[in-house]
Amino acid sequence: MKEITAQAEKLREDLRRHEYLYYVLDQPEISDADYDTLMRKLQQIESQHPEVATPDSPTQRVGGKPREGFVKVRHSAPMLSLDNALNEGELRDFDRRVRDLLGGAPYRYVAELKMDGLSMAAHYRDGRFEQAVTRGDGVVGEEVTENARTIRSLPLRVKTSLAAFEVRGETVMNRRAFERLNAERDERGLSRFANPRNAAAGSLRVLEPQITASRRLDFYTYFMLAGGRPACETHWQALEELTRLGFKVNPHRKLCRNVEEALAFCAEWEARRDELPFEIDGVVIKVDSVEQQRALAFTAKAPRWAIAYKYPARQAVTTVEGIEVQVGRTGALTPVARLKPVEVSGVTVSRATLHNEDEIARLGLQVGDDVVIERSGDVIPKVVRVHALGSYRKQFQMPGKCPVCGGNVVREEGEAASRCINTNCSARLKESILHFSSRGVMNIDGLGEALVDQLVDRGLVESVADIYDLTTEKLMTLERMGPKSAANLVRNIERSKKNPLPRVLSSLGIRFVGERTAELLAEEFGGMDAIATAGLEDLQKAQEVGPKVAESVFQFFREPRNRELVDRLRAAGLQFEYQYRRPKGGPFEGLIFVLTGALPNLSREEAKRMIEGAGGKVTGSISKNTNYLVAGEDPGAKLAKARQLGVQILNEAQLMELLKIG
Ligand code: IVH
Repeated sequence: MKEITAQAEKLREDLRRHEYLYYVLDQPEISDADYDTLMRKLQQIESQHPEVATPDSPTQRVGGKPREGFVKVRHSAPMLSLDNALNEGELRDFDRRVRDLLGGAPYRYVAELKMDGLSMAAHYRDGRFEQAVTRGDGVVGEEVTENARTIRSLPLRVKTSLAAFEVRGETVMNRRAFERLNAERDERGLSRFANPRNAAAGSLRVLEPQITASRRLDFYTYFMLAGGRPACETHWQALEELTRLGFKVNPHRKLCRNVEEALAFCAEWEARRDELPFEIDGVVIKVDSVEQQRALAFTAKAPRWAIAYKYPARQAVTTVEGIEVQVGRTGALTPVARLKPVEVSGVTVSRATLHNEDEIARLGLQVGDDVVIERSGDVIPKVVRVHALGSYRKQFQMPGKCPVCGGNVVREEGEAASRCINTNCSARLKESILHFSSRGVMNIDGLGEALVDQLVDRGLVESVADIYDLTTEKLMTLERMGPKSAANLVRNIERSKKNPLPRVLSSLGIRFVGERTAELLAEEFGGMDAIATAGLEDLQKAQEVGPKVAESVFQFFREPRNRELVDRLRAAGLQFEYQYRRPKGGPFEGLIFVLTGALPNLSREEAKRMIEGAGGKVTGSISKNTNYLVAGEDPGAKLAKARQLGVQILNEAQLMELLKIG
């Protein structure tokens, strides 16, 4: 037993370190596949020996149960907002006030990026993550503990001597995750999130932690409090302490000796904001010394020791000269506005996406109109609204034939997208290859857009499976392809064969089957063939797989062309088996537990996880269906009720005993 405990702890340590390297430092030391293997090993041990599982284990990030409602929590100290400075003059005014109020004493500022997300507080006790609360109205927020637990850059355990502390920061969604999420929502006919901030908020404030987990949020900290007060003497020290503890802290910050340096920082990042993986809407400037912060104090709504220097929105007005249509991987036709070129904060914009017909109708847009467009980093510029109707207007109509292959275009009921239904359409093929080779899927470095265009246009690749027939000789016939890059690409293609089954599954581009669903299917069925031959009902038995997903998977494998593709991928040597299967059942299978009172060693959450890990269910109230009541100190009314109904009562030691027998 000791050995297993030690082995589990070692795995947890290793995984924590790799999570830190990957999600906080962005410098992984091992491959995703090796990380998955370690994770699976730990999952296996913890499910076979639930007594060695701990609530702060990396396996527990997505173990949480849905919330039953929105629980309000009062903040230890108000989470205030900031006053804004909209230009240089207003920032200088702020600086003058600070100087006057401090009566001539020297002071410094910390300038840091103002990330555009949702602020959140995370509480730790004895080094363990305990609770997360959104800002709410600043005084009372909403508890989002289980959802926040899924954010990989939020450590579940930190090494500190502080008994309790709190960190505050910004939950953000980076642009890539945002674009992917919206693309997925387009696919499903759901409405898009208007910006990464709304997407982050909509992902954190959901009842189901699995949803948060699938959204890839990030948490950047900028405050550390103990007992509701700043934990360090200066803000700069707090940021360094947070970094040391393993929190993600934005590295782009500056300790400024005066307002000139702060202004220079603002200007620098206004020019460089596109380099960042996430959106910023300005810079926050804070007086560094906590003592001086205290002296400067607060107005009713904001501190006098900090200010937000806001960047102007990157918008411009221009004319829509035409609307073109692009074809995506699933054949979806996306209308794109051709614009009269216009400069938006240093970049010339000549196209903006319009997403689909409904969006054009919502905007009330016709060709010839003047529109307000907005640019936000990598995100393709978008049309925000119609500014003025054109004098000559032309209504857009979705073409009945695919603009690339001439195939038929169909818009199915309940869907926002019109699609080209020709599976041989070259635009679809190109997009499918790009999806196949993308980072989160088969991860084939070097197989980018320009190359894929050539491969398809020259007929070297007619199906995704042809990628595995590429040789250095064939590749060297292409433009700008020397022997070295060709050999590299062939090596990367070869390497991609090692990707585990869930990735292979998501590479197929089955509608509604993204990373997470692919993983669940692989876990449930253990192999490609079992999935391919499963009936509709079997498919729906897999966790979280609803009728729509099941139907899509089922239909995919009924299509001869798809089956042929799968066979060819098998022949190429891709991974079609999946060793790990979520262990079903357990010693407590079918048993219902209720917990009451404080247990001597286990927290309620720990006890719950152990019971659930062994296959049992934990409910909130005693009924005649309850099998066991686990009672600790001060058990209250539940104990009396259990006695009355003849429910068996256990103490913590007896519970542990039962778990061991299992
Ligand atoms: S400090 C009392 N620092 O901006 C100080 N806020 O307009 C309050 N934000 O509610 C916040 N990045 O959601 C601070 N580096 C940063 C920030 C930041 C983004 C957000 C935060 C806050 C809002 C204030």
